[in-house]
Amino acid sequence: MANDLFRKTTIQELKITAEKRSGLSKELGAFDLTMLGIGAIIGTGIFVLTGTGALTAGPALTISFIIAGLACFFAALSYAEFASTVPISGSVYTYTYVTLGELIAFIIGWDLILEYLLAVSAVSVGWSGYFQSLLGGFGINLPAALTAAPGAVEGTTTFFNLPAFIIVMLITTLLSIGVKESKRVNNVMVIIKVSVVLLFIAVAVVYVKPENWQPFTPFGFDGVFAAAALVFFAFIGFDAVASAAEETRNPKRDLPRGIIFSLMICTLLYVIVSAIMTGVVPFAQFSQAIDHPVSLVLQLSGQNWVAGIIDLGAILGMTTVMLVMLYGQTRVMFAMSRDGLMPKFFSKVSMKTHTPYLATWFFGIVAALLGGLMRLDELAKLVNIGTLSAFILISVAVIVLRVKQPDLPRAFRCPAVPLIPSLAILFCGFLIFQLGSATMIRFVIWMAIGLVIYFVYSRKHSNLNDRP
Ligand code: ALA
Repeated sequence: MANDLFRKTTIQELKITAEKRSGLSKELGAFDLTMLGIGAIIGTGIFVLTGTGALTAGPALTISFIIAGLACFFAALSYAEFASTVPISGSVYTYTYVTLGELIAFIIGWDLILEYLLAVSAVSVGWSGYFQSLLGGFGINLPAALTAAPGAVEGTTTFFNLPAFIIVMLITTLLSIGVKESKRVNNVMVIIKVSVVLLFIAVAVVYVKPENWQPFTPFGFDGVFAAAALVFFAFIGFDAVASAAEETRNPKRDLPRGIIFSLMICTLLYVIVSAIMTGVVPFAQFSQAIDHPVSLVLQLSGQNWVAGIIDLGAILGMTTVMLVMLYGQTRVMFAMSRDGLMPKFFSKVSMKTHTPYLATWFFGIVAALLGGLMRLDELAKLVNIGTLSAFILISVAVIVLRVKQPDLPRAFRCPAVPLIPSLAILFCGFLIFQLGSATMIRFVIWMAIGLVIYFVYSRKHSNLNDRP
């Protein structure tokens, strides 16, 4: 039995299975993948969590972004190596199936559900905040009970975040129509999103007062690290690029490019934006508008029109994040289901649209409900712990695969192995400990449920049981 838990599928077997059963159409290139990455990365992290980040770290929030960015960069190099070696749908789940065996692969797939699914919900809450701020600009206010999750706003009785729920249902509809339409919508929205970030930089930079950067670390390094663990959320998404492998024309060349380009562009933008935000507004003032801090900076500078444009851009920007995350979620589940670890229901592809429509609707509805009922910080921390754990496992996998299959052709090689993957493990492990015990306990419960499913269902239904 112990051997059984570590049974592995091979890269060749995976490729054959994928070719036989995929039915997904191949139409993405390096540019599309970079757009897909940026589409997933820039969102609630920069537009919303920077407010809480500034209150936690002070002006040293820029350092928090650099720490979180480094953790991602080290992990991204491992991701890129795997993505270029095992270009099969399912992202890191599939890579671990080949290298570390079935049980660990299942654990990581289960981990990714926490990442992608809850990220859709978390971003929908951020989206709702900016949407309501925009409506407020036109004098329209929703009934308070329908503006946030229960207990999310002190002193107000709230039941359900209706805008968050509705936007996820709309995104689900879009994705179920097909990847082609979704890709086009994504590309347009990414251009708008990057443009509003650049607009913010260009307009706000003239209001920077260097004295606002003093004291630089008002809450010491504890604050800087705690903020790093939170704003790590802002970087999540580049790994969704890897999950599009089966729909990529030349995955060996284009996947690593897509991952690394999108991550580098976003890190640069984040460091500049957070430096400007804390340079224009004394950090303590971010408590005034914790759900739309970026537009607050412009409002306090008297640039109300530009603030409105930023609101609109943030809304569109967060929409693309949800699109890519839900896409990633359905594709991971698609792969797990195709391998027999999850019910076949999840890998049913529509003949007409070539999308896994049942999985899309199932996860869309769950994500929408969670967005309606849970608080942003709770969701973001759970997403972070799921992602950080996945990053640790993928970094371990790179080292293992280098030792076990040194001659395997790799289109992209992570430099300085085992140093770089070890740094990824160190940084990600450190950030997990900054997330607090409540998040860690929830994570352990989630994992325990996953293990029960594995031993009760997946082990018995795995395709590897049919192998002679
Ligand atoms: N990185 C994504 C965001 O910040 C999840 O919204």
